Amino acid sequence: MKVIIKKEYEQISTCAAEYIAEQIKRKPNSVIGFATGGTPIGTYRELIRLHKEGLDFSNIIAFNLDEYLGVGMDLSKPYSQDQSYHRFMYEELFNYINIKKENIHLPDGLTKDPEEFCKSYEDAIKEAGGIDLQILGIGRDGHWAFNEPGSSFDSRTRVEKLTKQTLDDNYEAFYKNAGFSREEMPHYAITMGIGTILEARSIIMLANGSKKAEVVSKALQGPVTNQITASSIQIYQGTATVILDEDAAAMLDEGKIVASVS
Ligand code: GLP
Repeated sequence: MKVIIKKEYEQISTCAAEYIAEQIKRKPNSVIGFATGGTPIGTYRELIRLHKEGLDFSNIIAFNLDEYLGVGMDLSKPYSQDQSYHRFMYEELFNYINIKKENIHLPDGLTKDPEEFCKSYEDAIKEAGGIDLQILGIGRDGHWAFNEPGSSFDSRTRVEKLTKQTLDDNYEAFYKNAGFSREEMPHYAITMGIGTILEARSIIMLANGSKKAEVVSKALQGPVTNQITASSIQIYQGTATVILDEDAAAMLDEGKIVASVS
């Protein structure tokens, strides 16, 4: 695992975008796993800038990590009131790059048959040849995607019940501003599993801010446990790169970092 620590959020965004751009240049038809949340927004802005300079997304295939169950993109609403991860991805990235619509895959929060949908999502990832590069954030309860504490490291794409911590955080960060009450926000989501994520050939995990410092240290240097599903990074077999700002890295034990670059 390589850990890169940068001074500020903007620098982790640039660093992550460069990493993703290198992957796309090396393999123009890369299968990229995208993440939502506040953390990757800066990375996506930087990717949009790189696209304006010529970075070509026309052959990449995208698979998103997760979507709230019961929620779909609603273009009749302004973006601020549409909290679907679908809308997020279009507004924060896909609308501004030359990715082909048919190459975009997100879990369907409005599916009538979630179980069948989840199977078909796994099949689609396999048919695309597997994920070359998975972008990840980390939730404050240690989740990757919506793999809440207790999720098995073998878990596949499925419906997951969100924890109180996740509901609180995502309500404050997104749903509150959209005019939802806490009860109205979705309590379930479709998420790729930890097993699905661990099959990606490479991953980059991003975190910023002091509110992530404790969980980052637990995930990277604490016991490997499904109570912190991101701690599975310690048993991950592919190429893992963690990009942190100084605040998120503040509780790491420097002696234990495998490789650190500033
Ligand atoms: C959500 C998403 C995760 C994301 C996490 C952290 O729950 N499902 O994929 O990593 O929140 O979000 P943020 O980047 O806003 O802190």
